[in-house]
Amino acid sequence: MPASTTSDHSVRPVAAQSACSFRCIACGHVSEIAGQDFRCAHCGDLLEIIYPQWSDSDEKLAPQPDRLRSIWKQRRHSPAPADLSGVWRFRELLPALTSEQSIITLREGNTPLYELPQCGRITGVPHLLAKHQGMNPTGSFKDTGMTVAASFARQAEFRWVACASTGNTSASMAAYAARGGLRGLVLVPDGKISWSKLSQALDYGAVTCQLRTDFDGCLRLLQELVRRAPVYQLNSINPFRLEGQKTLAIELMEQLDWQPPDHIIVPGGNLGNSSAIGKALLEMHKLGLIPRLPKLSVIQAEGANALVRTLREASGQRLISVQAETRATAIRIGNPASWKKAVHVLAETGGACEDVSEAQIAQAKAEIGAEGIGCEPASAVTLAGLKKLVRQGFVKPQDSVVLVLTGNVLKDPDFTMDFHRGEMFREVPPDAQLESLRRPPIVLDASLDAILRTLERFEKSTP
Ligand code: F0G
Repeated sequence: MPASTTSDHSVRPVAAQSACSFRCIACGHVSEIAGQDFRCAHCGDLLEIIYPQWSDSDEKLAPQPDRLRSIWKQRRHSPAPADLSGVWRFRELLPALTSEQSIITLREGNTPLYELPQCGRITGVPHLLAKHQGMNPTGSFKDTGMTVAASFARQAEFRWVACASTGNTSASMAAYAARGGLRGLVLVPDGKISWSKLSQALDYGAVTCQLRTDFDGCLRLLQELVRRAPVYQLNSINPFRLEGQKTLAIELMEQLDWQPPDHIIVPGGNLGNSSAIGKALLEMHKLGLIPRLPKLSVIQAEGANALVRTLREASGQRLISVQAETRATAIRIGNPASWKKAVHVLAETGGACEDVSEAQIAQAKAEIGAEGIGCEPASAVTLAGLKKLVRQGFVKPQDSVVLVLTGNVLKDPDFTMDFHRGEMFREVPPDAQLESLRRPPIVLDASLDAILRTLERFEKSTP
């Protein structure tokens, strides 16, 4: 294993594991090693991880579906740290570490699949479920990818790991760096991330820089940094991250007894997560773990709809970047790095791509909250998008649908407070549906009478 932390700042290869190789998504060049920028040495495009032993010519060597299902089930009773992780439990479909000792885990994954009966009634799609990735250790889906990529950083003996982030990646990276004895460097846009996420990075001890630019500017600088300094990048450009994030889909299929739903709907920002889920679905289908492919659809905020425009205006052939603006700050991204991967998985699974307005996001978030589940604004685009896909006839009332909720409700309390206090959408005419969802805090005199009058008022005004 080459050491990767000597003091000359040249680009050093990151060791690859025997079980997997890197393949360029554009020119198809396959290599056993990748540079710290995780870009193709020939054409500069992104890399993906492939498993040559599953290749068509070698089908005998591919893991057998029944065997996999049974190993994964047995591990649920094991106390070993790798088996307690909802990511490493599925390690046959992940790149192999040379030693399990390198694993940095916070028992990520193992997230619940909830029924959403009220949202099912609202949308007219009764078979509606939510896979809640906000129940991960740092409150977002990022942990499932971070455990894998951070473990590879540790195995390659890096001292520093770094990321650009709209908040959740930085919270997750800071936690895994701390657990793994690595130093974390966080680059976030100044003023455009929620305090909860920023405070997590501080609490976990990362060196946190608020840059006077947006997320896209932070990511550009990070890409330059890793070419100049021995720093391991933990953005979703790093294909090890996406391998870990695949386990969301694997765990989901296991929870559904390997019977895929008709649709999976996911928010789109930098488009790593949709690419990872799509890759998992395609691999599971190829290996015979699932009998058919669900349609994977991506939903963006109207103000950050680069993928929607790329598909609509350029047929997915070239990226149309946008100047991103949305209060769903997690997906405030105008120049998504993994757009080509996302275009590919949408085409392969037959999914749709749509955008939704700020008011639709706020309403959907309150509706998910009213189920007692709650999520952050970026996650709520999935429900808002489902309503649109039902109106378009793309999702039928009898279809089964899984929404991927990517972040915990506690990630952005300012958004929730502003919505319920009526401090959002002041400039637009009042909307009865939105108004009925608001539950502003009520300041009362400390008297029983005042409380009883409030109860009465609510009894009368709500059905
Ligand atoms: N939902 C949440 C809660 C997110 O934090 C993100 C991305 C997404 C959805 C979009 O996922 O980028 O894979 O398409 N957050 C990143 C971050 C960019 O830095 O935390 P994506």
